[in-house]
Amino acid sequence: MAENVTKGLRPVLTPDQISDKVRELAERISDDYAGETPLMVAILKGGFVFLSDLVRAMAIPVEIDFAQISSYGDETESSGRIRVIKDITTPIAGRHVIVVEDIIDTGRTLKHYLNELRARGPASLKVCALINKPERREFTPDIDYLGFTIPRGFLVGYGLDRAGRFRELPGVYEVPDEG
Ligand code: PRP
Repeated sequence: MAENVTKGLRPVLTPDQISDKVRELAERISDDYAGETPLMVAILKGGFVFLSDLVRAMAIPVEIDFAQISSYGDETESSGRIRVIKDITTPIAGRHVIVVEDIIDTGRTLKHYLNELRARGPASLKVCALINKPERREFTPDIDYLGFTIPRGFLVGYGLDRAGRFRELPGVYEVPDEG
């Protein structure tokens, strides 16, 4: 990683803090779903890093799928528009489904997509989120498995971007002048 990539960013979560939490969450999920093969659905683009670490820490078999739901575009402020760009391709009727999010901000993305998934009749539908950021919350989905609550700030790294940048950073940082 080039050193100047993180220049001006404020460290919020270290890679070690994240990997400890990922292991803890994977253990809880593995215990709760023992004997099952849940379908874990990452919300792209941000969720790909968290999902890939999470599934490799699981002690039970899982299947994965991906959805992409857009609400922000390249803006730092939410536009309020929600659009399913890519839906999962796995039929979920009767399946145990866990939606994996990097961050829950306003709650709009999850509210919209959980409603869509619920209508397809899964056996269960739960949410695993690395970061809960309640500052701008409009809808409060139940978060069954939560990594961290970070009250405010514009966060990047570990899948989170600002205008497409910083997703590759192994830690989470705050962009000081945003938010
Ligand atoms: C981010 C994040 C969540 C969503 C949360 O995705 O990854 O999916 O916003 O925000 P909300 O709770 O206010 O709906 P974004 O729409 O920025 O897309 P990206 O993952 O492709 O960057």
